Amino acid sequence: MSDLAATLTQAWNRRKALNLLPDTTFFRALHLTESHGMTLDVVGQVGILSFYQHFSEAQEQTIFGTLQRVLPLETVYLKRRPVEARHVTNTSREWLSPEHPIYGPPQSEIIGLEQQVKYLFRPGSDLSVGLFADMRLARQWVREQAAPRVLNTFSYTCGFGLNATLGGSQTVKNVDASRKVLEWGKENYTLNGCETADLDFIYGDVQEWLKRFHKREDQFDLIVLDPPSFSRSKKGIWRAETHYGQLVSETLPILSKGGMLLACCNHAGISMAQFKNQIRKDNPGLKFHRSLPVSPDFPAEQESHLKITVWGR
Ligand SMILES: C[S@@+](CC[C@H](N)C(=O)[O-])C[C@H]1O[C@@H](n2cnc3c(N)ncnc32)[C@H](O)[C@@H]1O
Repeated sequence: MSDLAATLTQAWNRRKALNLLPDTTFFRALHLTESHGMTLDVVGQVGILSFYQHFSEAQEQTIFGTLQRVLPLETVYLKRRPVEARHVTNTSREWLSPEHPIYGPPQSEIIGLEQQVKYLFRPGSDLSVGLFADMRLARQWVREQAAPRVLNTFSYTCGFGLNATLGGSQTVKNVDASRKVLEWGKENYTLNGCETADLDFIYGDVQEWLKRFHKREDQFDLIVLDPPSFSRSKKGIWRAETHYGQLVSETLPILSKGGMLLACCNHAGISMAQFKNQIRKDNPGLKFHRSLPVSPDFPAEQESHLKITVWGR
C-alpha cells in the first residue's frame, strides 16, 4: 500500500502520454496488472474505483486519501467486486456499488467521450456504469465497417449499435434482456443525434431472437456477439467455455453470404487459442479473419482477459 501514490502517478502519466484527450475522456487509468487489487476508470473529472480484493476499513480510507491527494479528480465513486461477494447472498447492492461518491460532489449522470462519440454514464447506479473501455477499438472497427445490416446481440447500452449507425449502417438492431439498458441505449443514440425507432431496440432473450430472425428470413451483414461469460436462466447454466461455439452456430443461418461475425469473450480463464478452437470445432465452415486489440490504456498482458475476434463465411 505504501507505494500506491507512486503507482497511481506512474499509471496516470502513462495514460497522459497516450494523448487520448480531448476526443476520448473515458479511459482506464489503472489496471489490475499494475495495481494493488484495484482498477480506476475515468470519465472526465469523475473516477470509478473498483476493488477486486477485500480491504479493511482503515486500508480503504488510506486508499481514498491517497487518490484524492495524487490525482486531479473532482469526484470518485466506489465499486466492490471481491470474488467472495458473488457467493454471499445477502451482499447488499449499496455495499457493492454505493450510490454516493466516496468524495467530491455527486455526479450521478455525466457525459463521456470516446473518439468524439458521446455516452451517458451513471457512476453511482450499478457495478457497470454505461460502457466498457477495453472495447474501444472494437467499437471503432464496427463504425468503420459501415456494414449495411447489423445485429448487435447482448447489446447492453447499445455502444456497438450506436457506432454502426454513426458509421452509416442502414439497419441496426440491438437485442438485450434488460429494458433498462435498452432505454439507456436510446439515450446514447439521442445524445449523438441518431434516431431511435422502437423496432431497433429489441427486448428479450438473444437465442430466442436468433430463431425468430431466422424464421422471418432476416439476414445481417455484421453480427456482434458479446455475451456475459456466465449466466443462469430458466433454460439452465450458460458458460462461455463450453457453449460459445454453439451460440455462434445459432447465428450462422442469419449471417449473409460474405457477412462478418464479431465474436467477443471477456473471460480471463479462456485463452485466445481455446476460444478460437471452440468456435472452429462447432463451425468448421467459418473462417477466422483477425483479432482486434484491446484499448491501449489497458497494459498489454501475455494472455488478454478480452478476446475480440472477427470471422467470416
Ligand atoms: C457483457 S454485457 C454486453 C456488453 C455490450 N456488448 C457492450 O459492448 O457494452 C452483457 C449484456 O447481455 C445481456 N444479457 C445477458 N443474457 C442475455 C440473454 N440471454 N439475452 C439477451 N441479453 C442478455 C445483459 O443484460 C447485458 O446487458
